[in-house]
Amino acid sequence: MTEPRRPLVAGNWKMHTSVPEALNLVTSIRQKLEPAPAADVVLLPPFISIWPVQQLLLDELRIEVGAQDGFWEKAGAFTGQVSAEMLRDSCQYLLAGHSERRQLFGDTDEIVRRKLDAALRAGLRPLLAVGETASERAADQTVDVLRRQVRSGLTQLEPADLCRCVIAYEPVWAIGSGQTALDTEITAAVSGIRQLIDEIVPGAGVMVRVLYGGSVTSDSAPAILNLAGVDGALVGGASLDPDEFCAIVAAAEPDRS
Ligand code: PGA
Repeated sequence: MTEPRRPLVAGNWKMHTSVPEALNLVTSIRQKLEPAPAADVVLLPPFISIWPVQQLLLDELRIEVGAQDGFWEKAGAFTGQVSAEMLRDSCQYLLAGHSERRQLFGDTDEIVRRKLDAALRAGLRPLLAVGETASERAADQTVDVLRRQVRSGLTQLEPADLCRCVIAYEPVWAIGSGQTALDTEITAAVSGIRQLIDEIVPGAGVMVRVLYGGSVTSDSAPAILNLAGVDGALVGGASLDPDEFCAIVAAAEPDRS
């Protein structure tokens, strides 16, 4: 018997909210969240708000905090960077490989791998985002892209570390576009990712949570979160609206297996 996978809904606030706005947003989410959500809830505020948000949530068991990125060196002359090591006291998760980092800030597969390793070394749970662009999708390269990104991120990991990772399948063209992937595309990608994980560590596929991300809203969430193999959602735009975000969390099904 394997443990069922508890769903996870993460809110990626991207470069939105000042510190006071972040505190207001988290306060509102807290008020509107169900008393006992069926999903783990993770908020990813901008770096400057991680500590204040975490302090506000010290007695809050329903919500965890994560970082949207983190540098792999522990400390040093790296102006402007925040290391995974510096985040270890402030949060539990670290997002690596988001397509905006890959596309706008030059995060290659190798850089993503280093960030993921650094997160694990710091005791954080990595959230690895993978997904194809519109042109890769049009060229029928989705499987190849996912294979490359997943293998590059996870191949060198110890089995126990691999099982601490959460994977988010986020088709790049679906992010912020208002257009979600088709159900068939999501289930094919998610089961493909699980197979890849099994190739890396036999038997691990069933233990790793695989989320979907890309224009998830309270309207689309019930169907998406009910798809076979989908263990939750990585939410961008809709996570800035407490009603929307809490409705998405409420759409999560109890433990998946
Ligand atoms: P979106 O963003 O929900 O606004 O499409 C998702 C993401 O970037 O993780």
